[in-house]
Amino acid sequence: MTFILFGGTGDLVKRKLVPAFSQLVHNNVIGKNSAIIGISRKPLTDSQYKEFLSNSLNGEEKNHIKNLNIQYFKGDFENSGLYGLKELIEKSEMEASDRIFYLSTSFRFFPGIVKELKLQGLHKKTNRIVFEKPFGNDLKSSELLDSEIHSVFNEKEVYRIDHYLAKGTVQNLNVLKFTNPILYSGFGNRSIEEISLTIDESLGVESRLEFYNEAGAIKDMIQSHLLQVLSLILMERPESFEPDKIHDAKVKVLKNLKVSSSKENLIGQYDSYSKELKSLGLQNKNTETFAKIILDCKMERWKGVKLILRTGKKLEKKFGFIKIKFKTPHEKFLKGFSGAKDNEIIIGIYPAQDVTIWMNTRTPEQNNEVKPVKFEFCQECEFGPNTTYEYAVLLEEIIKGDKTLFTRSDEVKESWKIAEQIEKMRNKIRFVKYRDGSNPEKITSKFL
Ligand code: BG6
Repeated sequence: MTFILFGGTGDLVKRKLVPAFSQLVHNNVIGKNSAIIGISRKPLTDSQYKEFLSNSLNGEEKNHIKNLNIQYFKGDFENSGLYGLKELIEKSEMEASDRIFYLSTSFRFFPGIVKELKLQGLHKKTNRIVFEKPFGNDLKSSELLDSEIHSVFNEKEVYRIDHYLAKGTVQNLNVLKFTNPILYSGFGNRSIEEISLTIDESLGVESRLEFYNEAGAIKDMIQSHLLQVLSLILMERPESFEPDKIHDAKVKVLKNLKVSSSKENLIGQYDSYSKELKSLGLQNKNTETFAKIILDCKMERWKGVKLILRTGKKLEKKFGFIKIKFKTPHEKFLKGFSGAKDNEIIIGIYPAQDVTIWMNTRTPEQNNEVKPVKFEFCQECEFGPNTTYEYAVLLEEIIKGDKTLFTRSDEVKESWKIAEQIEKMRNKIRFVKYRDGSNPEKITSKFL
């Protein structure tokens, strides 16, 4: 393989891609004759670049990438600065190598890079081209990107990253739902009251303020990760598990989602955000660092079920889970019992990927007392700790040419439409400032 990394000295390459490469070499997924060519504007030699990559690895991991053919190309993506790239690629790779172009840059550079690849005739060999998120910053820009990209590469060659699709829990959703009739038979509005998906983070925006201030939680998280996971939760049984059939089923969900005008919708900003902005001389545009959005799904199966998406930064703790809350049994069945609660299924995303089902059971020797108890599946107890990097999963799928874990063009567009629905009603959504490390939903009116 030849991996050509645009944005080769960026944070993502250092933190996510290099450890993934190392793991894949270790697992013999990437052969030792493979080449990595990093491209960025910094003036580096090949050996300095190799050092840069290996500095982000620990001792054992460093060994794995040591024998890869690592090259560096200093180039400016904007000003025809990629002249000579073709020669370097051809010199570095084995004749039979497949090429993977990985664009870990801002989406603003995607069209220019794609055009340059065509100009240099680099698009002709067996290719895969990978785009990091975000794919545009609204519907219009994502459509424009697609038309520019599709004029050079066909959709089959395009891999749009959403790393949430590589999370164990998210990959497990189809298995849980479709291979367990005990779950699937109750999956719909006859039994379920509400489904919520929570992705809370404890860290703030960190070094990405400039990008984040223009995006906010809705564009950064809801448009991508949360809507991707929600569409997998709600999708009907696909005709098969072929990637396109799964994408079709997800698109059907996305097309049927509607943002509710519920008073529960809430956006907010953590207190120290404005100070962080000031230190960079950026303007506070009331960008939301927290969002809780209620949606409805018009599909027959889900009509009337409340769907809740929640995400934010600088919250109490890093915590991600799906909660499926079942309807309260008819009161005639509860008569004479006390203590019964609604059934719930909690599917952890992080820190643990456990599944917990809460059900009522009789308390021994107290006939009328009912107690909710947990039926718990502990992922780590059963399968041991998960040591596979998410980006290793993604890279392996790209190498195999399987597109299940990547977003298809129409999914991205439908998700931008939903983000735009939220934007349109933004002025009507309550906005709160919340203390760093607190829960914005618990703020009472005296703090507003
Ligand atoms: C990224 C967002 O896509 O996902 C970040 O841009 C966010 O803002 C991150 O912090 C969360 O990913 P994870 O895997 O740490 O939950």
